[in-house]
Amino acid sequence: MSNGTKNIAILGSTGSVGRNALKVIAALGKGFRAAALSAHSNYKLLAEQAKQYQPDVICISDESNYEALRVELKDFGGKILCGGAGLVEIAESGGIDIVLTSIVGVAGLAPVLAAAKSGKRLAIANKEPLVVAGRLLTETAKANGAEILPVDSEHSAIFQCMQAGCVDEVQRIILTASGGPFRGYSAQQIRDVTLEQALAHPTWNMGPKITVDSATMMNKSLEVIEARWLFGLPIEKIEVLIHPESIVHSLVEYVDGSVIAQMGTPDMCLPIQYALTYPQRVKGIANHLKLDELGSLNFEKPDVETFRALKLAFEVAETGGTACAVFNAANEAAVGLFLDGKINFVNIVEAIEHCLEKHEVIRDASLEELLDTDLWAREEVNQCLNPNTVKK
Ligand SMILES: NC(=O)c1ccc[n+]([C@@H]2O[C@H](COP(=O)([O-])OP(=O)(O)OC[C@H]3O[C@@H](n4cnc5c(N)ncnc54)[C@H](OP(=O)(O)O)[C@@H]3O)[C@@H](O)[C@H]2O)c1
Repeated sequence: MSNGTKNIAILGSTGSVGRNALKVIAALGKGFRAAALSAHSNYKLLAEQAKQYQPDVICISDESNYEALRVELKDFGGKILCGGAGLVEIAESGGIDIVLTSIVGVAGLAPVLAAAKSGKRLAIANKEPLVVAGRLLTETAKANGAEILPVDSEHSAIFQCMQAGCVDEVQRIILTASGGPFRGYSAQQIRDVTLEQALAHPTWNMGPKITVDSATMMNKSLEVIEARWLFGLPIEKIEVLIHPESIVHSLVEYVDGSVIAQMGTPDMCLPIQYALTYPQRVKGIANHLKLDELGSLNFEKPDVETFRALKLAFEVAETGGTACAVFNAANEAAVGLFLDGKINFVNIVEAIEHCLEKHEVIRDASLEELLDTDLWAREEVNQCLNPNTVKK
């Protein structure tokens, strides 16, 4: 930190959360600075961002784009890194105060762990590392004095509601879910949905993987496990309710019966900003709610028979160990195939179920065992979902 300015690394600055984070930091102005940025393959946008925001360091994690990035940035005065090692170098760097991780998938695990080891504030949007290695990550953060602040809107909401009481006084937390584009569909109806329909989220504008995750309700499933680690709560104290308006971002019920909710427009700028400025609240760029224009707010129980991922999440969270790594990796691999048009929507959850059935869980798994399991599940999905035979 220099002159009281917070130097922020945005890992995944070219994505949906990353681009919003840059807008938030620019609007915060004095006191906050985007000091490090990263992309995986979108070197053109990373180069534009580097020219506009003048960070000290940038990283392109897919090394095959390194030369092209250098060509785009001939006059750039900062450091240009590449590969996974570059992301870790940024996360560990003494010149960074806050690491905002908005990488998609378990690819964010190594830099997230590095940030936790170096005792920094970790503003975490990248939920998959918490799902796969939640115990390791939270223990590492605790041992090194790192703060993990949620960026996911539901977890930011719970974090905010938790300030009304202490953990021991919590009866349960309620994560809200929009229900995605297929809310109300029967198990038969979701068999015929298309990629285009799955990518049309009713309330949130997000990257493609999380948008598909919202349609299968895998996103909420991952969030259940994420919440378990972020808030140190037993899984029985976590519930999910469908709230189609996406205005109440989540709720905490206390033992005395009080329910504290956090509300806001469906805009990621708000939770991103809070994770950067906490414990302060400052004026920001998120639109304010117009309560008189909202009409009614609705809540209903999720249909876990049609959206089976949600039921699996509670089972997997209870089992723990490598089960969570299988759950996440099988989903990442299957969503990749779905986005490439190689499999059907329903094959995603079928693949996860297949892998979980086949896997022998290791309970107190090491990082190496978690990563081996992640690889195994990806290979298993690719084998069991042979694109030539599955898609009808
Ligand atoms: N979008 C939301 O509103 C939202 C809300 C809550 C939580 N989240 C979580 O935040 C994370 C990011 O979501 P998103 O919607 O912003 O995703 P996104 O738009 O797909 O962006 C992903 C970012 O990660 C980079 N990336 C992709 N693969 C990578 C790899 N293998 N190694 C390193 N970097 C890689 C991308 O670089 P390129 O651009 O070069 O591919 C991009 O900068 C996810 O974990 C998601 O669940 C998102």
